[in-house]
Amino acid sequence: MESLESRIQAIRILFDRVLKETTSESALEDVRLIFLSRKGHIASLMAELKAASIEQKKITGPALNALKQHIEQEYQNKLTWFNQRATEQEMARTYFFDVTAKKSRPYQGRLHAYTHITRELEDIFISMGFSIADGPELETDFYNFQALNIPLDHPARDMHDTFWVTYPHLLLRTHTSPVQIHVMEQQGAPLAVFSVGRTYRHEATDATHDFVFMQAEGIMVGKGISMANLLAIARAFLCHVFDKEDLAIRVRPGYFPFVEPGIEIDFSCPFCKNGCSRCKKSGWIELLGAGLIHPAVLRAVNIDPTQYTGFAFGMGIERLAMLKYGIDDCRLFHSAQLEFLHQF
Ligand code: PHE
Repeated sequence: MESLESRIQAIRILFDRVLKETTSESALEDVRLIFLSRKGHIASLMAELKAASIEQKKITGPALNALKQHIEQEYQNKLTWFNQRATEQEMARTYFFDVTAKKSRPYQGRLHAYTHITRELEDIFISMGFSIADGPELETDFYNFQALNIPLDHPARDMHDTFWVTYPHLLLRTHTSPVQIHVMEQQGAPLAVFSVGRTYRHEATDATHDFVFMQAEGIMVGKGISMANLLAIARAFLCHVFDKEDLAIRVRPGYFPFVEPGIEIDFSCPFCKNGCSRCKKSGWIELLGAGLIHPAVLRAVNIDPTQYTGFAFGMGIERLAMLKYGIDDCRLFHSAQLEFLHQF
């Protein structure tokens, strides 16, 4: 039989190797059972030593004790290590905070294109001394038509396909011009007011028409206000909006019952020199309806037309935004398409 010394040595080698390969706490418990339990290697070596001679005991006793201590110590160390690792893992699971971790981006709202352009226009007109006004979208026949020199039987009503509501004389405003009447009634002359708002017309939709759309309205009333003031303001505004210093304007006659003379104001295309799709190869873009406020309108709001004159202009916000941002379908504004809306 092998000597006790050599078995002590062999068991030490075996233990060291086994311990090295022990990777879990439960496996370590098995190691303890094999080496340190009452039926383990150390116990059986001890039993053998007990039966040995005195001389043998003197030599082998210390060696066996050393092995026992070694195994107990290493076992303890490894057990402590497993415990620490478990605590660290638990801490990491609970407290670990990775500052570099990628967080999924929350949905972020944006201002609508309408809001952008409205704010820009309001800033421009405020800088030219206008104040800002608002008017109701649900209007009366009086404000939408009659006070604007469009009596009940006037043929100009044909131009406004109106959404009437079931309540008599109420309608969804077909243009922002009723705001002129409200502000002149409330403020009297002189005044300079700009207003943007939603308008409605009962018509079939296509890429350039919708049944709900936005208009802007400007009005200035004072002593001696003339066509020259209107054209200067219109040109200054257009140069601002399109960020150009040298836009030219041209005037064509236009008919609106609440202005006399009535005109349409076109401006030279800011996007090209020799014709492009936005100016339809003509070099000119139509945008504004305008004119000098009709004396009948001034009288309707108790402003004396022999003392005061004024101008008014109106335009479609979609048309302006489409030109400015290169949008080809006005229905996109109400489409709730996020890819479209996110661009602004
Ligand atoms: N209200 C007119 C329209 O809707 C535009 C306009 C406003 C024309 C002011 C002249 C003066 O077409």
